[in-house]
Amino acid sequence: MSDGCDHLRFLISRRSIRKFKDRPVSDELILKILDAARFAPSAKNSQPWEFIVVKDDLLKERLGRIHRHASPLLGAPLAIVVVCDREASPTSYLVDCANAVMYVMLAAHALGLGTVWIQSLRNVEKVQELLELPERLIPVAILAVGWPDESPNPKKRKELREIVHLDRYGRYWAPT
Ligand SMILES: Cc1cc2nc3c(=O)[nH]c(=O)nc-3n(C[C@H](O)[C@H](O)[C@H](O)COP(=O)(O)O)c2cc1C
Repeated sequence: MSDGCDHLRFLISRRSIRKFKDRPVSDELILKILDAARFAPSAKNSQPWEFIVVKDDLLKERLGRIHRHASPLLGAPLAIVVVCDREASPTSYLVDCANAVMYVMLAAHALGLGTVWIQSLRNVEKVQELLELPERLIPVAILAVGWPDESPNPKKRKELREIVHLDRYGRYWAPT
């Protein structure tokens, strides 16, 4: 029986993928991912998220040009935009929807697909215009999704001793 370490390895093995194979992602897999994303936690179970599956090449290209770090979208077969109803969860919509974004990323990873989170919060109006979103729907993230065509090394992480405190801020924890 698994002691949970496989699951931890799964989490730790996710990478942002910015180069994709020229191979489509089936609707069956897209639905599996979005079905799992529905199970993300949200304040008062408000589930303020909706998902826009972007397959249209021209639209993907336009999204891929909203800023200079959005270019992974240009080579991805698919984008998933997570949009959030700020009226449905006024205090927590950003964190609620960030949870849904992570669920999408991890569900895709579980299926062998790669993703990268493309920043959209500095270009909210532009993305709303491109996707014809009502004003209350905030595009929280654009995910480029596809079959990985690179295996990047893990990005450097802060050491636990830099970020973990015991009881009060600044008190070092010496685990026994
Ligand atoms: C809120 C947010 C915005 C991001 N925006 C971009 C982006 O616009 N373009 C990009 O290539 N990567 C973007 N990333 C991906 C990060 O660069 C990446 O997660 C980080 O470098 C750690 O690498 P890893 O995901 O491989 O662990 C973003 C990630 C987050 C969480």
